[in-house]
Amino acid sequence: RKNDRESMMIVNSFAQKYFSEKLLQSEEGMAVGMSYLRERGFREDIIKKFQLGFCLDSWNAFSEQAIQSGYKKQFLVQTGLSIDKEKGLIDRFKGRVLFPIHGIAGRTLGFGGRILKKDPKAAKYLNSPESEVYHKSRILYGIYQAKKSMVQNDKCYLVEGYTDVLSFHQAGIENVVASSGTALTADQIRLVKRFTNNMTIIYDGDPAGIKASLRGIDLVLEQELNVKVLLLPEGEDPDSFSRTMGATELSQYIEKNETDFIVFKTNLLLADAKNDPVKRANLIIDIVRSIAIIPDNIIRSVYVKECSSILNVDERVLYTEINKIKGRLQ
Ligand code: UTP
Ligand code: MN
Ligand code: MN
Ligand code: MN
Ligand code: MN
Repeated sequence: RKNDRESMMIVNSFAQKYFSEKLLQSEEGMAVGMSYLRERGFREDIIKKFQLGFCLDSWNAFSEQAIQSGYKKQFLVQTGLSIDKEKGLIDRFKGRVLFPIHGIAGRTLGFGGRILKKDPKAAKYLNSPESEVYHKSRILYGIYQAKKSMVQNDKCYLVEGYTDVLSFHQAGIENVVASSGTALTADQIRLVKRFTNNMTIIYDGDPAGIKASLRGIDLVLEQELNVKVLLLPEGEDPDSFSRTMGATELSQYIEKNETDFIVFKTNLLLADAKNDPVKRANLIIDIVRSIAIIPDNIIRSVYVKECSSILNVDERVLYTEINKIKGRLQ
């Protein structure tokens, strides 16, 4: 098993170098892959830093080269780089720009592949399948490139996608990781905690992003992290938004507009509840539930104070509710 894992990582490493070379040096890679990335405004130093690649638009150019270079079919299939068909191996990532997904130590565990043309029948991103080396729920995209800055700044930005991570680096912000479009997991938060206890969630400014932020908050609180949220203007994601401003401007914008989770949640729910007393009551219970999750008494009391003042509800009432919920949790 352990040998299998190692063999799979060796194949991934070969694939990463092969795809990078195709992107940077092959005619097709330069004309198609690089043009795409350049049109989107990604700089070459960022493309290299993240070891982006390109899989030729051929059924099996990669698989053939891998077999010829002595890599075993078994590991090509187990990593998902190749798909085993009757007629032979075919390339999973055919015609896509590739984002290698690195573990903490910088080894390639899997890939995300972006389609270049709009095609309603095909997924925008295709990812490596779950395997011995690639566990989607335990990985955060960008962690290898972010960890140093996460420690230095004692803070981490959490975004949704691959390109969001790249654009932040391009703007000079390196303490950023992506949950890659899936619901945040406890394993992923534990990964962050190895480097910092402070997180700001910056998800896409669409209903899905807001919903995911709300879901993320409770999970992060449970793991005793301090969590803030930055809501982006409607229709923007961190990638598109960061391109509308310079590096310092972006940092300043984030600092000015990130809000404590409680303020984010309250404002969001208040906008919906308006003056409806039943809705207001439900809102208070909802927020109290989040506060009750926080394991530390002192931190919890700070939030109770804040919540009491924003919602204009007596602290004692909030504590009564919290104790009720905690009693049920035990
Ligand atoms: P988004 O739809 O927000 O894409 O999904 P994006 O990151 O902004 O990508 P661009 O800018 O259009 O290139 C967020 C993340 O969800 C995952 C990817 O990790 C993506 O970065 N995702 C999305 C998939 O895995 N598959 C998909 O088909 C779409
Ligand atoms: Mn496993
Ligand atoms: Mn999105
Ligand atoms: Mn997006
Ligand atoms: Mn995007």
